[in-house]
Amino acid sequence: NEKPSALIMIFGATGDLANRKLFPSLYRLFEKGNLSENFAVIGVARRSLSNEQFQENVKNSVQSVASNSNNIDEFASHFYYHSHDVTDSDSYVALREMAVQLDEQYQTKGNRIFYLAMAPEFFGSIATHLNEDGLTNVQGFKRLVIEKPFGHDLKSAKELNNQIRTAFSEDEIYRIDHYLGKEMVRNIEVIRFANAIFEPLWNNRYISNIQVTSSETLGVEERGRYYENSGALRDMVQNHMLQMVALLAMEPPIKLNTEEIRSEKVKVLRAMRSIKDDKVDKYFVRGQYGEGILNGQKVSAYRDEQMVDPQSNTETFVAGKLLIDNFRWAGVPFYIRTGKRMKSKSTKIVIQFKDIPMNLYYKTEQTLNPNLLVIHIQPEEGITLHLNAQKTGNHMNATPVKLSYSNTGIDGINTPEAYEKLLYDCMRGDATNFTHWDEVALSWSFVDNISQHWQQTQTHFPNYESGSAGPKDSDVLLARDGFFWWPIGDLEVEKYQ
Ligand code: BG6
Repeated sequence: NEKPSALIMIFGATGDLANRKLFPSLYRLFEKGNLSENFAVIGVARRSLSNEQFQENVKNSVQSVASNSNNIDEFASHFYYHSHDVTDSDSYVALREMAVQLDEQYQTKGNRIFYLAMAPEFFGSIATHLNEDGLTNVQGFKRLVIEKPFGHDLKSAKELNNQIRTAFSEDEIYRIDHYLGKEMVRNIEVIRFANAIFEPLWNNRYISNIQVTSSETLGVEERGRYYENSGALRDMVQNHMLQMVALLAMEPPIKLNTEEIRSEKVKVLRAMRSIKDDKVDKYFVRGQYGEGILNGQKVSAYRDEQMVDPQSNTETFVAGKLLIDNFRWAGVPFYIRTGKRMKSKSTKIVIQFKDIPMNLYYKTEQTLNPNLLVIHIQPEEGITLHLNAQKTGNHMNATPVKLSYSNTGIDGINTPEAYEKLLYDCMRGDATNFTHWDEVALSWSFVDNISQHWQQTQTHFPNYESGSAGPKDSDVLLARDGFFWWPIGDLEVEKYQ
């Protein structure tokens, strides 16, 4: 195991992300022996806290993931705290002094990671200060880890990028997309490129359509303020959904390294047909949840949530049809769907193969299910392959069967696992599972066309009940092409046609 040395500064260290994901992830790396002795963390936030108080917070946040609580004190002893004003140069100078001293004390080889886990409006000015106040002047490597949202459209993303590029070069910027840390999202590449049987079929001759669904049961919770300016298109499609599509559609890279994989993903995004103006309503459906029943509980409509405008036109659901105009994919729709307050929490990719040329089982009036390869991303992790086989004892009868591989660990949903992998990648300097600026820019320009059209046109919200599978128009989107959405929950072996 590589054991990187570094000083990590976490901006937003008293926030939710740091406590729920980052500290537990660092702890797991520590417990597994993937962190060397030579690491220290400076928690940076506005609140005034002593090192001891901060270490107490850290200990509390890692308690539930610790398999041996004896390690916790030692782990927490690597944590320090700096009470910070993000707009004040003096505060950065004090932070720099603290960093220099810890570099020395922990022999970090001068390696520094700056993790911005806070409100995005400060990203640009923090980067500028880090540069101007000498914090990026290091002996070893310097890396910036930045959470989403990376801008709210192409224009603002460019401005932000220009600002951070004054202090960090592109290969020093690690833009987080936490879906790229998920085990089964990483597995897409292995399933495709480590098996001989899929590649010959992975194209428009054998695949009829691909469906990528990420449904959530949670509503907008306390994030109304952010979400009102975002909506599902910016919150989920611009990043997570398009990243999954790119991994599914890319050509085999010549090597599995950062540059080669990214360049194949970029080609997919460039080949994606742009959809604008009056075409948008044909290819995209937006929805907003009304009230409904979820897990036996009555839940409120989006418009009644905290910090949400009672007349809000923000979408909490998006379904879309993407077309990738290249030799491999011409004519194969990639359907994507994501929404809040849907009937279950599930992220899944269904690859539907074309029908066989002729149904020999027609005499018994059977229709055959198409073959499906399903990649289960969460909460179950695994792969299922849906085939037809003989019904026991009756060779004239074909019946659907499912071959499954389950990768589900004990952790279930929303574990810090993804962050653990991404933090480790960043410490080792592997940027493969972070988004490059070219990907960000292409995704925004695709999404901007859609959001501009939506801003200019009226719609009738709410248009789906909480606890449902989304608005009816989402089904119509596929029905027009002769398809239907495979169910959100478990895909049981049964007849669907
Ligand atoms: C985040 C979005 O990026 O992803 C949230 O901002 C969303 O709105 C979350 O809930 C979903 O992530 P996961 O890992 O629970 O599928």
